[in-house]
Amino acid sequence: MAKAVAEGAKMVHGVEVELNYYASPETLGAFDAIIVGTPTYHHDINMDVKMLFEEAAVRNVNLKGKIGASFGSYGWSGEAPKMVYEIMKNKFEMRVTEPPLLNKYTPDQKQLENCKEFGKKIAERLMDTA
Ligand SMILES: Cc1cc2nc3c(=O)[nH]c(=O)nc-3n(C[C@H](O)[C@H](O)[C@H](O)COP(=O)(O)O)c2cc1C
Repeated sequence: MAKAVAEGAKMVHGVEVELNYYASPETLGAFDAIIVGTPTYHHDINMDVKMLFEEAAVRNVNLKGKIGASFGSYGWSGEAPKMVYEIMKNKFEMRVTEPPLLNKYTPDQKQLENCKEFGKKIAERLMDTA
């Protein structure tokens, strides 16, 4: 899903995309837009993603006004991307425009196209407001 989202974002002229499996809180400030992927495990966010935001909050990393978005695969409840959306919006005051993109289990070709479209839309939004 992440690769497809990144691929979609790269289609927008002028947008540079970095796809990271891990991120440190300090590096987040360098980006204009942050798209986070997390599966839902035990009705919760992936631990690394949770720690990333916890540490960013503790270190007062300023993400206000940056574009934010979230996505993830899930099995039955799929809370995690919605929780990330809320954290971005309410805690960090990021601009979250697209609703979280959820995918039940492994995405098929059509769903990967949706991921691509999702990344493209967010990159377009970024260029519109740049
Ligand atoms: C231990 C375990 C707990 C899970 N808990 C949930 C859950 O609470 N809600 C949900 O929607 N899916 C749950 N799932 C399903 C995963 O979200 C789903 O398989 C997802 O695609 C996993 O992504 P991954 O393959 O990238 O780890 C769980 C899966 C496992 C193995």
